[in-house]
Amino acid sequence: MIPFIDIKAQLARIEDDMRGRIDAVLKHAKFIMGPEVAELEAELASFTGSSHCVTSASGTDALLLALMALNVGPGDAVFTTPFTFIATAEVISLLGATPVFVDIERGTYNIDPSRLDEALRAVKEKDESLHPLPAPALTGGGLKPAAVIAVDLYGLPADYKALKAIAAQYGVPVIADAAQSFGAEYWGRKAVRAADIACTSFFPAKPLGCLGDGGAVFTDNDDLAAACRSIRLHGVGAHKYDNARTGLNARLDTLQAAVLLAKLKIFRDELEKRREVAAMYSAKLARLEGVTLPPMPENAASAWAQYTLRSPNRDAIQESLKQDGTPSVVYYPCPLHQQTAYADLNYQPGSFPEAEAASQEVFSIPMHPYLDERTIGGICQCIQQSEMQTK
Ligand SMILES: Cc1ncc(COP(=O)(O)O)c(C=O)c1O
Repeated sequence: MIPFIDIKAQLARIEDDMRGRIDAVLKHAKFIMGPEVAELEAELASFTGSSHCVTSASGTDALLLALMALNVGPGDAVFTTPFTFIATAEVISLLGATPVFVDIERGTYNIDPSRLDEALRAVKEKDESLHPLPAPALTGGGLKPAAVIAVDLYGLPADYKALKAIAAQYGVPVIADAAQSFGAEYWGRKAVRAADIACTSFFPAKPLGCLGDGGAVFTDNDDLAAACRSIRLHGVGAHKYDNARTGLNARLDTLQAAVLLAKLKIFRDELEKRREVAAMYSAKLARLEGVTLPPMPENAASAWAQYTLRSPNRDAIQESLKQDGTPSVVYYPCPLHQQTAYADLNYQPGSFPEAEAASQEVFSIPMHPYLDERTIGGICQCIQQSEMQTK
């Protein structure tokens, strides 16, 4: 079986450096907030050009930090896409706020700015005829627009210029869920800089992954960064036992910071290799009618967390790939408004047709920096043959 993501090939490449860094942590034994955490934050801030990087225990915690720093809570509406991993919406609900889903663009799978405008207006005017709304938006005093969380699905940045222009009209900040897009670019800068605050994940399968859970928040806003730093440490104030606010235990382990420092050294090269793999796939599959390739807009460079195709014959193609020893995965088979966890929001089938259609047709094929051209060729040939058989 071809690996879907080849973490072992990466570890073999950096093993000595990584072991050296882990040994250094074992020696100084500062496992919580050791010097590697600050070193990593400085390197990540420099890599992205952001004024601040605040690491966290996971990507989910990074999102929580951002929302808590923005004081999101009960009665608030947070606008986001239904075509994402549950963590994006889960954090909104955990804080007592309500996710207001906004459908995706067909081409990019990311939140559609024109629909965001409708959704914001619908919440403000408590008018469901403008946009499908969750039950709490229509009862009592309704909801107050508080924030937008855009998701850079599969590694491709959302359209932040358009999103921020619309959000600004309603006075709400834009958060990037950049869990899948660390390293991506948007209009020539690192994409994490495009939002008011961006949150990424270092889950092992992400473009920059550690050996467990980890995450980070990026922002140019001094106040938001200070709030995130406090919240991740139990709301710490002037000193360790001064608690300025209710916070979390959301620190990145020193050991994971050490691992990430080793991985960061080869990250630029790995990103380049991911781009080469994506270009090879797209060149080989270009003439395949009936299979939609991932978008490659001119103003953005994906981090290629996934290489995701779309076909009405998805099931047949996935079965052929499986027979051939190639794994493929559907991200995501059920949009969030149709999840049991969100049944009480009372969304209906058809509320978000683009997300629902995409969930029936997308599938991701192996993507990592260590895929060679012969393997890529074999995978593409299998997809081509499967498509020809369905004609
Ligand atoms: C879009 C998205 N948001 C949030 C997360 C949560 O990240 P983590 O697993 O590090 O908590 C993930 C990762 O799984 C993700 O893909």
